[in-house]
Amino acid sequence: MLHLTHRPRRLRSSDKMRQMVQETRLDVRQLIYPLFISEKVSGRSEISSMPGVAQLSLSSLDQECHSLVQLGINAILLFGIPDQKDENGSQAYAETGIVQRAVRAIKQAAPELIVITDVCLCEYTSHGHCGVVAKEGNRYDVLNDASVELLVKTAISHAAAGADIVAPSDMMDGRVGAIRTALDAQGYTNVALMSYASKFCSAFYGPFRDAAESAPQFGDRRTYQMDPANALEALREVALDVEEGAELLIVKPGLPYLDVLWRVKERFELPTAVYNVSGEYAMVKAAAKMGWIEEQRAVMEMMTGFRRAGADMIITYWAKDVAVWLNS
Ligand code: PBG
Repeated sequence: MLHLTHRPRRLRSSDKMRQMVQETRLDVRQLIYPLFISEKVSGRSEISSMPGVAQLSLSSLDQECHSLVQLGINAILLFGIPDQKDENGSQAYAETGIVQRAVRAIKQAAPELIVITDVCLCEYTSHGHCGVVAKEGNRYDVLNDASVELLVKTAISHAAAGADIVAPSDMMDGRVGAIRTALDAQGYTNVALMSYASKFCSAFYGPFRDAAESAPQFGDRRTYQMDPANALEALREVALDVEEGAELLIVKPGLPYLDVLWRVKERFELPTAVYNVSGEYAMVKAAAKMGWIEEQRAVMEMMTGFRRAGADMIITYWAKDVAVWLNS
């Protein structure tokens, strides 16, 4: 019982004491807010499975960016929803594509915002896969190298539009090296590469696929996304991306993979982001709506958990709310 006398009670006795010994802090500057820009909507179109999140038109971007800057949010992650989809996702790398136009508009409206672009084909392909697909009857194959070529074109077109960071989320092999090489060769040496280095094949992406209109029309993403059971394999995938030149890493989803986040941060010591994905958002929103959970406390606890597990940055749909809560 003797050890009880050593309980550091006084360290919890007042707010000031608690703040002084707090190990993990959260700062609005660590938040990244995802934005869905659609060619098909005018103004804002709410996403029903993600209350509070909307697809935005190009014309509503100005206002959105200004309110983000006011809240102290420094970085956004852009997803595009094109009007036209085709087999090869050609709107992903068109100079006049939705993301390319959005980046230019944002750089005009709020040059200080760090613009990160999602580099993937799934929102642009008619079949909804992240790469080029060869289909024969009921069988299909996602063609790695052909996909990488288009992903490189996509990343270059984002850089040309003024993106600060490109973030390939497709999980094809070799795409990080190919994108880095192409960026450097074309003079975009200052554009950073943030890799979704370990992206698991997850049920928690469900609502996003509504938001981005990117659900696969057949099959699933199991052949190119990670098995939730494999942490060591995830570390090997991350190692490849680091060797190929990824400067920032993403672990995704967040909540079920905090162990992976911790290991990635410990092992690679690179700036590491966690993606607090759509399903994690939707489930708290739903429970809060039912009166079953206290949203603000639950979210702040989640954010603290991400930070404690090693996240330098948090990609979250709650970024605006968290910014407000941090300031209150
Ligand atoms: C793929 C991509 C996905 C997400 C971000 N980029 C979905 C997928 O792999 O199906 C999910 C993000 C979320 O669920 O919030 N381009």
